Amino acid sequence: MPRKTDSGSKVPVSSAERVSTGIHGLDELIEGGFVKGATILITGGTGTGKTTFCCQFIYEGLKNGEPGVYITLEEDPEDIKEDVKRYGFEFEKYEKEGIFKFVYQNPFEVSDIASTVVNAINSINAKRVVLDPISLVGMYMKDPAVLRKRLFDIIRMLKKTGATTIVTSEILDNEIGEHVGGSLSRDGVSEFIADGVIVLSIFGIGEGISRSIIIRKMRRTKHSTDTNPMEMGGNGITISKQ
Ligand SMILES: Nc1ncnc2c1ncn2[C@@H]1O[C@H](COP(=O)(O)OP(=O)(O)OP(=O)(O)O)[C@@H](O)[C@H]1O
Ligand SMILES: [Mg+2]
Repeated sequence: MPRKTDSGSKVPVSSAERVSTGIHGLDELIEGGFVKGATILITGGTGTGKTTFCCQFIYEGLKNGEPGVYITLEEDPEDIKEDVKRYGFEFEKYEKEGIFKFVYQNPFEVSDIASTVVNAINSINAKRVVLDPISLVGMYMKDPAVLRKRLFDIIRMLKKTGATTIVTSEILDNEIGEHVGGSLSRDGVSEFIADGVIVLSIFGIGEGISRSIIIRKMRRTKHSTDTNPMEMGGNGITISKQ
């Protein structure tokens, strides 16, 4: 379906079905939301808001009755729930209703987390899924080729479920937010397999810190390529236009 630009000319708009991200100000930068069923990598340095982003995405679905699963390989679900209560995300309500599952999986206890993920998704017919962080999958694997295959298999499996999925990873940065690693994820491969990549950053030190978000890649989407300012507070993450 064509749409009119400010100048009046018509540009094609992706016909893909969209899923609202729940992040204030983001949908309008990516043609209305994530492509339904896509796998999106949220990456950035430590403390840049990756987990908060994931919670807000899942919570948006829950408010509209869409079942969601959050698989955490790192933080305790109870800690995450407490952290995001300040933004008004009350996950317990939806756990009681049976449309939300918060699953902790110790990445060192199982060699293959795929079955944990699939069972959780199928048990409530989840439409939104988070795997936070995917970088802990196969941390103990020495052979990079084996690790890449494992990540590839997990992402392919997630795509098969039809759920819209976020996975998270880390970019190495220094104390003032400059990226010092060579790739967009810890494993160096997730960014190529994912359908979309969003980079969160913190710049500066002390009172003068500022946050930003860049949509690095979003398949089937005409998206903003600006560095957009981002804030955390109030009712979650809010993005303002550059
Ligand atoms: N009330 C608040 N208002 C604004 N910012 C906050 C507030 N509480 C926490 N933060 C910020 O949120 C950050 C944590 O967010 P989050 O856990 O989503 O980040 P992350 O990228 O997942 O971090 P990690 O590297 O631990 O996985 C804190 O480091 C802090 O900067
Ligand atoms: Mg986190």
